[in-house]
Amino acid sequence: MTWDIEKIKTEVLSDVQAAGTLEALEAVRLKYLGKKGLVPEMYAGLGSASPEEKKSLGKGANDIKVLAEAQIAERKAALSLSAKKADALDVTIPGVARGLGSRHLIDQTVEEICDVFKNMGFVIQHGPEIESEFYNFSALNIPLDHPSRDSFDTFYLDAKDPAAAGRHLLLRSHTSPGQVRVMQKHTPPMAVIIPGKVYRPDAVDASHSFMFHQIEGLLVDKNVTFADLKGLLTAFCKKYFGDDVKMRFRPHFFPFTEPSAEVDIQSNIFKGRAGKWLEILGCGMVHPKVFEAAGYPAGEQMGFAFGMGVERIAMLKHGIGDIRTFVENDVRFLKQF
Ligand code: DAH
Repeated sequence: MTWDIEKIKTEVLSDVQAAGTLEALEAVRLKYLGKKGLVPEMYAGLGSASPEEKKSLGKGANDIKVLAEAQIAERKAALSLSAKKADALDVTIPGVARGLGSRHLIDQTVEEICDVFKNMGFVIQHGPEIESEFYNFSALNIPLDHPSRDSFDTFYLDAKDPAAAGRHLLLRSHTSPGQVRVMQKHTPPMAVIIPGKVYRPDAVDASHSFMFHQIEGLLVDKNVTFADLKGLLTAFCKKYFGDDVKMRFRPHFFPFTEPSAEVDIQSNIFKGRAGKWLEILGCGMVHPKVFEAAGYPAGEQMGFAFGMGVERIAMLKHGIGDIRTFVENDVRFLKQF
């Protein structure tokens, strides 16, 4: 029996490469190196071979054995590695879902409130957080030395006001300065909502924060009455707090409106506080001095304005007892909304 050693070597190489799994590779090993495989068969044939044949056949069988062993070992290592890799990346294991971020409750509340007014025809405007004394006070009929300024305690900045000698810029203490800015930029009739952050140097506690949010409203037209203001705010409260909300207008004083009022509500959505009246906003008819500061001719326009604290409203609506929870960024609090 003669063997074509070179042909067998080529076959060993291609068989080993063709084996795509460890099982297929084991079959190749048995084919060549197993007890009934080709190499033992070649060795067995040596006994009946002539001395010259013995020599070349013996060498050939040995070469094939060495080659097959080396090739199979190498292939086995490669196949085991990729099997391990496949194990490491078991795509059937459920993944660890990343927590999705959510919008902050204050942001949501601002949007909800703005949406109510947008649906009634108001447009959203924004004013700067860094303001001048003119817009924050003087234009709103709050004279520089007037005690009513005390209730709008203010953070002053180191920066000088480029428009007023000797005066400093400040962080707005309410959104009302936006009223004058909007009136200067646009001509009536107008109905705007101005949401934003405001700052006051209050000591922080459960109901005070040095930064909070307000939403300002302003409507200017030829014939506007307090009844229009009442109607609008009543519609807002019903829409936002529910039809069963009870509200009242209580006379108040603001330098930039005359007459002025505060709105309280009493609603059964406030657990444990049923029956208690809670103030939610200030409002009134735009003071002639404010129109004057905006550059409007005296007596031509009428308007009303209102301003509400967003944190306050969110706390009332969701039963939140401490204003600090809005800025502590505790995910357990934030993700409830
Ligand atoms: N700016 C007032 C404050 O911060 C709130 C306010 C009251 C706004 C009456 C108004 C208004 O527009 O008419 O306390």
